Amino acid sequence: MNLLVTGGAGFIGSHVVRGMVKNYPNYNIFNLDKLTYAGNLENLKDIEKRPNYKFLKGDIVDEAYIFKIFEEYNFEGVIHLAAESHVDRSIKDPLSFVRTNIIGTVNLLNAARQYWRNSKEGKRFYHVSTDEVYGTLGESGLFTETTSYDPNSPYSASKASSDHFVRAYGETYKLPYVVSNCSNNYGPNHFPEKLIPLFINNIIEKKPLPVYGDGKYTRDWLFVEDHATAIDLVFHKGKNHETYNIGGFNEWQNIDLVKLLCQIMDRKLERPSGSSEKLITYVKDRPGHDLRYAIDANKINKELGWKPSVTFKQGLEKTVDWFLQNKEWLASVTSGEYQDYYNKMYSKSL
Ligand code: NAD
Ligand code: DAU
Repeated sequence: MNLLVTGGAGFIGSHVVRGMVKNYPNYNIFNLDKLTYAGNLENLKDIEKRPNYKFLKGDIVDEAYIFKIFEEYNFEGVIHLAAESHVDRSIKDPLSFVRTNIIGTVNLLNAARQYWRNSKEGKRFYHVSTDEVYGTLGESGLFTETTSYDPNSPYSASKASSDHFVRAYGETYKLPYVVSNCSNNYGPNHFPEKLIPLFINNIIEKKPLPVYGDGKYTRDWLFVEDHATAIDLVFHKGKNHETYNIGGFNEWQNIDLVKLLCQIMDRKLERPSGSSEKLITYVKDRPGHDLRYAIDANKINKELGWKPSVTFKQGLEKTVDWFLQNKEWLASVTSGEYQDYYNKMYSKSL
């Protein structure tokens, strides 16, 4: 199979590409990535010389380029992860989310529709999406595959729109597709604009930890390698035109998570107990901040036999170890553009 993975140089995409390259030596894996600030080929150093791997630098918004690579490589499967993925950036610049997440997805759908028009046998378009499309939960309840869409941020609105386009292409053009909606990932290679890697980096540097609002917002955390395993299963075993929710069965209020992370970091860095917690600083809330996300992952569990393989404490330990052992990676991604972003984002509140 010639398999196109988009966004494979990013956080989740790099774990997906690595798994596919290693587990399916008979597939040719094409990793298409624009290498935005979030994409980094260092994430794939260990597999870049494998004979079944090829990197394609390109932009999913560039329609002509997308059609050209479909023509050239005759893809039979697509796993689409490329996206602008950070909620805070979407609040500052919604249009770039419209371009990549909506127009980019429609370009890929159009190319798949065109090149698969004569035979859909063995073809599959897998759209990787987020639980944020469902909006926010109150204190109870879980997101299921039939929860109504109710996105609240420009990021989640753009992902919701792309999900609708995928579904519409399935209905209108009979494009064979699957969608999954996953909760918050964490793990190695996570870009340090998101809560866990940002706070790991700030603890290392003894900088304030900016907790939004009262810190009582709840997220459902999943180790990234478990998400990659779920993506492999959904791609190979999921049913056409179905959605699968993926989650960690693992809800944490931000402030409790941050305190746990502080304890782990104090121990690993051999600093006095309680020293990282002193860095916690409550700052102005994120506008439109969703109170709580929590996934009902029973469908993928029952139908495909998937469940997370590590506990949160194990996953967090592994994550912290990775960041401490990869300080060069951290230094390289936090130079340049990152410093501008960080100053603009946090200078008024810290
Ligand atoms: P990321 O921001 O770490 O990586 C995104 C990748 O896409 C980068 O390599 C970037 O260079 C590439 N990219 C961006 N714009 C592009 C364009 N126009 N053309 C080609 N490549 C482009 O994102 P992530 O956290 O790894 O998320 C991957 C996917 O999974 C996204 O679709 C996201 O919505 C979804 N998702 C993420 C999470 C999470 O917790 N991170 C949870 C559920 C779903
Ligand atoms: O739920 C899946 C989504 O999870 C993905 O679709 C997104 O791509 C991914 O970025 C993530 O979105 P969140 O907005 O939940 O993740 P983030 O790490 O930005 O924030 C997690 C929580 O921590 C959220 O309640 C906001 C809060 N937070 C975040 C940052 C960056 C802070 O309190 N301080 C911060 O500095």
